[in-house]
Amino acid sequence: MLALNVNGKTKKVDVDESTPLLWVLRDHLDMTGTKFGCGMALCGACTVHLDGQPIRSCVTPASMAVGKKITTIEAIGSTPAGRKIQAAWVALDVPQCGYCQSGQIMSATALLKSNPKPSDADIDSAMSGNICRCGTYGRIRAAIKQAAGVSA
Ligand code: FES
Ligand code: FES
Repeated sequence: MLALNVNGKTKKVDVDESTPLLWVLRDHLDMTGTKFGCGMALCGACTVHLDGQPIRSCVTPASMAVGKKITTIEAIGSTPAGRKIQAAWVALDVPQCGYCQSGQIMSATALLKSNPKPSDADIDSAMSGNICRCGTYGRIRAAIKQAAGVSA
């Protein structure tokens, strides 16, 4: 039994400690906002925050999250940076199919928290691990800039 702090609440889950955090979130806690894409830390669809840092939950054993704060897409809007990012995503109509977008928003929020006025290079570097099959990269960059209050 592992005790995990997910979005500010303690959740007890009866899983092997090597179980990827992504499966704990989706299958044991019914939090399906975080998506499975590649399962190999290549696409970023499964991004959540661990103590504020973006991590790939598909390759992170649940045991590594014990004693840390896990934040998922379900709660990202309760942080100031997450709220700004989500509002910009809506205003600029960023998603197409939407599949990658939870991960994109998690990475973008982590960027904005650590770097409130990111340059184009900062955005490219922070977002480079998040793949979008629909090619929404231009709108993602514009939305991050809008959330940061820097001109596009
Ligand atoms: S599903 Fe985790 S990085 Fe692709
Ligand atoms: S919006 Fe379709 S994969 Fe990114």
